[in-house]
Amino acid sequence: MRSLVRFGLAVITVVAAGACGGAWCSAPLLAGSSNSLLDISADGRLIACSNRDNGTVSVIDRETRQVLRELPVGHKPEGVSFIGDTHQLAVAVYADDRLALLDADSGAELGSVPLFDEPYGVVSNRAGTRLWVTEEYPGEVAEIDVATRKVLRRLPAGAMCRGLALSESTNRLYVTEYLTSAVVAIDLEAGQVCDRWQGPASENLARQLVLHPTRGKAYVPHIRSRVTVHQGEGSVLPYVSVIDLPAGEEPRRKTLPMDSFVGAFVVANPWETAISPDGEQMVTVFAGTDDAFVSQVLDDNYRELSFRGVLRLGHNPRAVRFSPDGTECYVYNALDFDLWVYNTQNYERVAQIAVCKSPLTAEQLEGKRLFYTALEPMVGRRWISCSSCHPDGDPDGRTWHNPEGLRNTMTLFGMAYTHPIHWSADRDEVQDFEHTVRGPLMQGRGLLRGKVHESLGEPNSGRSEALDALAVYSNSHEFPLSPHAKTGLSEAARRGQALFLSAETKCAECHSGPFYTDSRPERPFRLHDVGTGRSDPGEKLGPKYDTPSLLGIYRSAPYLHHGQAATLTEVLTTANPKDEHGRTSQLSAAQIADLVEFLKSLPFEDPLPAAQAAGLKKIEK
Ligand code: HEC
Ligand code: HEC
Repeated sequence: MRSLVRFGLAVITVVAAGACGGAWCSAPLLAGSSNSLLDISADGRLIACSNRDNGTVSVIDRETRQVLRELPVGHKPEGVSFIGDTHQLAVAVYADDRLALLDADSGAELGSVPLFDEPYGVVSNRAGTRLWVTEEYPGEVAEIDVATRKVLRRLPAGAMCRGLALSESTNRLYVTEYLTSAVVAIDLEAGQVCDRWQGPASENLARQLVLHPTRGKAYVPHIRSRVTVHQGEGSVLPYVSVIDLPAGEEPRRKTLPMDSFVGAFVVANPWETAISPDGEQMVTVFAGTDDAFVSQVLDDNYRELSFRGVLRLGHNPRAVRFSPDGTECYVYNALDFDLWVYNTQNYERVAQIAVCKSPLTAEQLEGKRLFYTALEPMVGRRWISCSSCHPDGDPDGRTWHNPEGLRNTMTLFGMAYTHPIHWSADRDEVQDFEHTVRGPLMQGRGLLRGKVHESLGEPNSGRSEALDALAVYSNSHEFPLSPHAKTGLSEAARRGQALFLSAETKCAECHSGPFYTDSRPERPFRLHDVGTGRSDPGEKLGPKYDTPSLLGIYRSAPYLHHGQAATLTEVLTTANPKDEHGRTSQLSAAQIADLVEFLKSLPFEDPLPAAQAAGLKKIEK
């Protein structure tokens, strides 16, 4: 069971004297001081992991390695944390907009705290009296009183926040912006952002950060999305950024490239990282290449980490944690639904625990694994996967310089009802992504034998089980309702709706039906020139585009095929100077605001019953 390939340095156990400065020495951190999809109770007896696909949390006895119970919590649970030194758990139920509080010993649900939208990371203080939760959209931290289960404050924390860590000694929270990987510090006394560490504009997908127990550093796993080298080498690259937390001289943010950390051994999609309680070891899991780096944390501000070894893991590892005594390290393989246990002396795997059953059909599971992997037959050079740009079906917030022109990544939610695909309707089925797999972007062997048919020519569906499975997964994303319409449409949104439906603005002429699009899978496709196709000199397919669905656009900025409208207001004003995209120039500022309020409320009801009534067919694969 020796799974550590290339095991380098002996374990160094002495921290250089004087390494810890000021407040950082006084309060060692709990495992649960930083967010993760996995946590260990302070007494070291229980492990909890959230099973996103199952909607459950598994509780495992650390000594016997038995799953004690699997607790249903709702749709897409993400962050999980034990509360203080208790066996109570807080779980961020991402798609149900709530924090579930559970008793891990009895399995009872103790309470539920409704949140605004998309809770992701959760941490507790040591006393177990307070919880903090990142709400990804729009980018806030909710502070919760454990005793009363009330939200005490909502703290603005940037845009689209996921990662979260608490430093009790400095009374600060550290938060990562998901789509920029910027780190934001919130002073808990003042309840305000007091510091910010921004990286280059290409930095992306920072889901988590961990604090070093003594060094005044935070470590952030993330990628870079280099949109201008779409067809070249390394358009998505893996990093760990090291943040110097005390105020001081620039630069306070250093980015360590994980693809050149070990010579030419390339990894993809860093998801989480963990630091051992003594601050000496770090393990970072790579969800695209199914492996992890074990490194030694160095007490120098130049190299920061040295390489110890590689762990070969199961499918799509998303979480990693150390036990409170530092003797074991746990890795959660999301698409094997299991937990691997390593002993940290020599990184031998000592146990493999099945934490829940796969809720997916064999076909869905195969498609999902293909979507998340950066390995063959999907990818030749280990540095990208479909999920690098479409994480969990969401857009990556980027506009790529594609051969056909600038192309903003679109959401995959609801796509099963809005074929054809791509802004220019240049593909009619997901199986056409065999061109992407074999092309310069991914350079994979591919999923079907023989020639790939032209995208709009004879079908590529039905020719390969694997390719059909990829289509099944891609078509499986369903729209969540807009958080802006939880209690129905507001007054402003109703006024906006009337404008939207009016003959004056013409919006509903093209944005029609339950998905707010006139797009249809039958030929001829209906494409429209709405005056947006002239500003990009590199455009090869415009000026007509497939009408996009408007469901879920509250969270998918930037807008339009070229991403040149930063906000919905810009779509209706600066990006529509000649009234070619509906008629908007006659609207007052207040009317534009009403219209935007309506757009942000979509979907305010489940579109599927109306789709069924209208006879719209769901494309399964
Ligand atoms: C480098 C980032 C990147 C990667 C990797 C990537 N995509 Fe995309 N995806 C995009 C962009 C940008 C668009 C919009 C392109 C266009 O319209 O021409 C898009 C559009 C799509 C759409 C169309 C959605 C709709 O509603 O029309 C689908 C489906 C899709 N991608 C699936 C995949 C699959 C499957 C893979 C892996 C084989 C993949 N993508 C890999 C960036 C990426
Ligand atoms: C003639 C058909 C047509 C009309 C009328 C129309 N749209 Fe569009 N709409 C489109 C097309 C096509 C696009 C894609 C254009 C592009 O990306 O360059 C689009 C894009 C959008 C987008 C951006 C979506 C995204 O995901 O980036 C929004 C928002 C939008 N329209 C709202 C409206 C509103 C509000 C009105 C009424 C004022 C309106 N549209 C009128 C066809 C239309």
